[in-house]
Amino acid sequence: MLEIDRLSIRYGPFLALDEVSLSVNAGEIVGLIGPNGAGKSSLARAIAGLERPASGQIRFFGKVLGDVPVHERIGTGISLVPEGRGLFAQMSVEENLLMGGYTLGSRGATLAAMDRGFQLFPLLRERRRQMAGTLSGGQQQMLAVAVGLMTDPKLCIFDEPSLGLAPIIIEQIGEALLAMRKTGLTVLLIEQNSKLTGAVADRIYIMAAGSIRFHDTPAALMANPEVLETFLSA
Ligand SMILES: Nc1ncnc2c1ncn2[C@@H]1O[C@H](COP(=O)(O)OP(=O)(O)OP(=O)(O)O)[C@@H](O)[C@H]1O
Ligand SMILES: [Mg+2]
Repeated sequence: MLEIDRLSIRYGPFLALDEVSLSVNAGEIVGLIGPNGAGKSSLARAIAGLERPASGQIRFFGKVLGDVPVHERIGTGISLVPEGRGLFAQMSVEENLLMGGYTLGSRGATLAAMDRGFQLFPLLRERRRQMAGTLSGGQQQMLAVAVGLMTDPKLCIFDEPSLGLAPIIIEQIGEALLAMRKTGLTVLLIEQNSKLTGAVADRIYIMAAGSIRFHDTPAALMANPEVLETFLSA
């Protein structure tokens, strides 16, 4: 579904991503983990069309994304739930969801998308009139996930959804990811939390300093002493 082929990203003289290749097949949850500054968000932003790669290729359903602008990428089924959630703090839960679905066009499609979010996180329905900025961290992350699903994506990229959340909330996010996959969504899960990623991902890429260092199933990675020592100690 998604193929990244030797993608490089530069910020001025700094090479943030160095010929990274990665693939995500339909129906998979693929994990991408790595320490601060590894280049994970840069990759996510490049897939969403928010970062222009220096070289390499991104293909979605075989189509080269190249200069395809953000809104057209959304139209073909790519959604990014950004690091830091990207919510409008001064808007209600419902308004944030509406903003997320503005590309849908029809009111019926928008309401249906909103209802899917409410089914995934019933609490959001109760809090639909509450200002997003006054939700708890975990509730805000649930809202960010629901906003990301408003465009009815085929592939959803989650950039560190577990950041700053309590273990019980992280578990709920994991359950939500598995539930979403059951409905046909494909997921690229970017995380530093290897526990969450290991629990839900089919395959994991480990990235450091702009390069993919390891790629395997969670079980195989856990059995690799080098991986355990260097990356999974947390
Ligand atoms: N707009 C920018 N200008 C200059 N350097 C940047 C820019 N964005 C990112 N970088 C640098 O690129 C590198 C990769 O950043 P990126 O945000 O992709 O890392 P990350 O893996 O998402 O890290 P984290 O886990 O901390 O979110 C970092 O060294 C960062 O400082
Ligand atoms: Mg990041």
